[in-house]
Amino acid sequence: MKTPVFIVEEELIRRNCEILASVKERTGCKVLLALKGFALWPMFPMIGNYLDGVCASSPWEARLGREMFGKEVHAYAAAYTDADYAELLTLCDEIDFNSFNQFKKFQALERGNTKLGLRINPNCSTQPAEHAIYDPCAPKSRLGIRKKDFELQSLEGISGLHFHTLCEQNSDDLATTLQAVEEQFGELLPQMEWVNFGGGHHITRDDYDLDLLCKLINDFKAKYNVQVILEPGEAVALHAGVLVSTVLDVIDNDGAIAILDVSCTCHMPDVLEMPYRPEIDGGALPNEKNHTYRLAGLSCLAGDVIGDYSFDEPLKAGDQLVFRDMAHYSMVKTTFFNGIQHPDLAIRRNGELDVIRRFDYQDYKNRLA
Ligand SMILES: Cc1ncc(COP(=O)(O)O)c(C=O)c1O
Repeated sequence: MKTPVFIVEEELIRRNCEILASVKERTGCKVLLALKGFALWPMFPMIGNYLDGVCASSPWEARLGREMFGKEVHAYAAAYTDADYAELLTLCDEIDFNSFNQFKKFQALERGNTKLGLRINPNCSTQPAEHAIYDPCAPKSRLGIRKKDFELQSLEGISGLHFHTLCEQNSDDLATTLQAVEEQFGELLPQMEWVNFGGGHHITRDDYDLDLLCKLINDFKAKYNVQVILEPGEAVALHAGVLVSTVLDVIDNDGAIAILDVSCTCHMPDVLEMPYRPEIDGGALPNEKNHTYRLAGLSCLAGDVIGDYSFDEPLKAGDQLVFRDMAHYSMVKTTFFNGIQHPDLAIRRNGELDVIRRFDYQDYKNRLA
């Protein structure tokens, strides 16, 4: 196989979509694909058989959703420029604001059928402190309007509320969050048409408590008579794709280091940013198997290191390594740093590998001028 290559398995995306569709069936909620997490648009027609549309963070994402998904498009960003907002109005069914300043600035513009909402901050952290980079309720967060900032504000023109507080979490943390939302914003909820519960629901993970999720949604709907919306990104593409790489060289510096034809910073940046340790087919913790290596990328960054892994057999140039669970957030975040060859993009359908994109020098050059 030519590497590097991201391979997304259509059947596994479909399996995730079926689970998400089962939540829709049991609750009547809407489920949107968060494009920030997964935006492999050749798969949108298939995903659109199950989900209601997309949520976008920018006009480009909204346009991709409008052009290629063809169902509902919702948008939220921490702030909109005049130009972004004008473009979003032509593309979106719903737009959420992050502050009353922005809502007041834009509310008078003619908006056709587009409905407006506000993102709230229920000030309820359910993530560990070391996860603050992913916690919209962390101290001094800029994401969402706090309860006290609703005082004396008119909600005329607002049809819904949006919160997003979770990251890779189960429905018990949603229960905790909903309690905080109800305590602080409960009196506003009956005036709303919809409440968007954001993303971060790890719905397609094996140990996810689907029954609790469905009960929470059904109870909330019954109590406040609102449309509930979920906008997962990761759950749509969880465990549905890999990044295949080849060992280019093995060197030694107080231990064996295998240099790969991928880069951690370019092709799996969340490994450094989040940070986390990706799983590898046949790989184990250091020293658990006979041969331990530091796996590293080919960029100039000293810290372009994926981690230390052990294998049954020694690694040598030409061996291929498969990094698991790389379909979400990796593919949308890659860069051309150092001009390194970008992995091909491929979809596996019915056992056949379809390489849908191979990047070349012009792609790199055109990014820069
Ligand atoms: C507002 C909003 N909605 C949805 C998502 C999707 O979250 P996830 O991919 O974790 O489900 C995010 C992720 O950051 C987000 O910020």
